[in-house]
Amino acid sequence: MRSIIILTTLISLCLVFPIFDNFPQLSLLPQSLYCKNRLIKLAPNEYRLVSEDEKLNLKRRNQNFIDMTGQIPIDVAVEQGLVTKPVLSVWQKVFLIGSKQITSLKKTIPIYNYPKSTKYNNEINKLFALIDVDFMLKKLTKFTSFYSRYYRSESGSESANWLHGQVLKLVGEFKQIQVKKIHHDGWDQFSIIVSIPGEVKDKVVVGAHQDSANLILPSIMKAPGADDDGSGSITILESLRLILEAYANGSFKPYNTLEFHWYSAEEGGLLGSIDVFSRYSNASEVVVGMLQQDMTGYVQGTIDAGVEPHFGLISDYTSVELNNFLKLIIKAYNSIPYHESKCGYACSDHASALENGYPSSFLIESEMKYSNKYIHSVMDTIDRLDWDHIKEHVKLTVAYAYELSSAKDLH
Ligand code: BES
Ligand code: ZN
Repeated sequence: MRSIIILTTLISLCLVFPIFDNFPQLSLLPQSLYCKNRLIKLAPNEYRLVSEDEKLNLKRRNQNFIDMTGQIPIDVAVEQGLVTKPVLSVWQKVFLIGSKQITSLKKTIPIYNYPKSTKYNNEINKLFALIDVDFMLKKLTKFTSFYSRYYRSESGSESANWLHGQVLKLVGEFKQIQVKKIHHDGWDQFSIIVSIPGEVKDKVVVGAHQDSANLILPSIMKAPGADDDGSGSITILESLRLILEAYANGSFKPYNTLEFHWYSAEEGGLLGSIDVFSRYSNASEVVVGMLQQDMTGYVQGTIDAGVEPHFGLISDYTSVELNNFLKLIIKAYNSIPYHESKCGYACSDHASALENGYPSSFLIESEMKYSNKYIHSVMDTIDRLDWDHIKEHVKLTVAYAYELSSAKDLH
């Protein structure tokens, strides 16, 4: 009887306070089952109002979506006919009134003249000799030792602080290079941005997501997230280390501003990256290309199938032109080929860039069908990863970052 009273009270609290769901410490309460206070985008013209728990169920069924709650207030979504009006109590109406103005829901993506040939082969190949697998192994071992990097957990904030410290150590005494913590509304784990200023403000972005999640019970269960996306986070950390070597000896001077991003809350529906890119869009920043590194280390799927190790070049919800530039980079700098593959829709942070009008690409460890099946569980561990494969992703990332940030005639 007592538990029925507690449950009923919690459900009614939820109905009265839809924002209740946003408090991480309360996320385990049954109220999360009943609050339809998240606006998600499942396809270009398909929006839905769901609860946190329904979001998790969609993820468990491999249904991709972007959580647009911070971008489009629910009343605006209703006004624009994106979703039908939810039945609200008086209190809910008070709490749901949003002030943000949505100017356009679908932005066009500009086309840039990406280089048609590579120019810095000598310099870049010299950097490849410096790739340090021991460094990466050490950093990934520590990164996966946090109980979980779930964006709503305390250990998720601790892992962000650790990563921030590592980035600061690399950037060291370069006064002109900025390292920023990007704090988000509604959860504590911040995103991290390193910005190496170029002659112009146009940005070339390399990204990965720092958070992990165990999809059974994200707030309770361990989530090492070695491949998803510890591997991508460490791939871009090592790439930054190499780029800084070239920056320090004066051989690399970016023309475009080069940025490295570690996003928070990708597993919550691309929440961190959508916040970052919508801020860029609101500030009229130019991003000429964004490359996402998410899952860079698992090759057992290809080995089991008797298929050559390869990159999976995601061909849907990415930029055709930037993908073509990546094909050029792979042919010039990598010792494995690419296979094109489809993700379904918005399966990682590259989708947040595209959503905000910026060309983006996503290069994963293999075609989707051979990719790591242990992600989102306690079994996503380092021992299943292949360092030669991660090295190929580092080479690709360094070459992309170096060549594109040095390109002058993009417009
Ligand atoms: N790394 C995954 C995406 C992924 C999974 C790519 C398997 C290739 C193979 C990513 O972290 C993820 O889990 N994405 C969510 C979607 C997101 C919008 C919540 C997914 O795929 O369910
Ligand atoms: Zn991921």
